Amino acid sequence: MQTPRRIGYPLVFVLLFSLFNLVLSDKVHASVMNRLGNGKNLTIHCQSKDDDLGQQNIPDGGEFGWDFSVNVGGTTLFYCDMEWENVQQYHFDAYSFARDYTRCASQCLWLISTEGMYSLNGQTGFWEFMYYWPN
Ligand SMILES: *[C@@H]1O[C@H](CO)[C@@H](O)[C@H](O)[C@H]1NC(C)=O
Repeated sequence: MQTPRRIGYPLVFVLLFSLFNLVLSDKVHASVMNRLGNGKNLTIHCQSKDDDLGQQNIPDGGEFGWDFSVNVGGTTLFYCDMEWENVQQYHFDAYSFARDYTRCASQCLWLISTEGMYSLNGQTGFWEFMYYWPN
């Protein structure tokens, strides 16, 4: 009775690890949309430890997006600095594994408006107000 169980354990670990890898190797699409209105431009610079997406100008009504894989260690982080007329050097995390692995399973969408930032919760399908601009 003991022998089959002892053989079984490593197999279960291999299966669990494969499943874990499969789930985490999905591609995620991140996107930042400029909805400031009145022709206002948004300047944004996003990067991770390995990728620098460069400085981008997003015209009013436009968007900037990119795709990435979530790493197995669960440390994937894309952070951005952006500025527009009223806000200078605003820093935020466009994707942070701990915060977003369920909320943004396949896409992490951000909407920039004059009152602050909204993000689409992929689990609920609702746009959520996330951050106010600093005064
Ligand atoms: C926004 O950027 C474009 C392209 O750089 C420029 O032509 C336009 O004048 C800018 N608009 C404003 C309101 O600054």
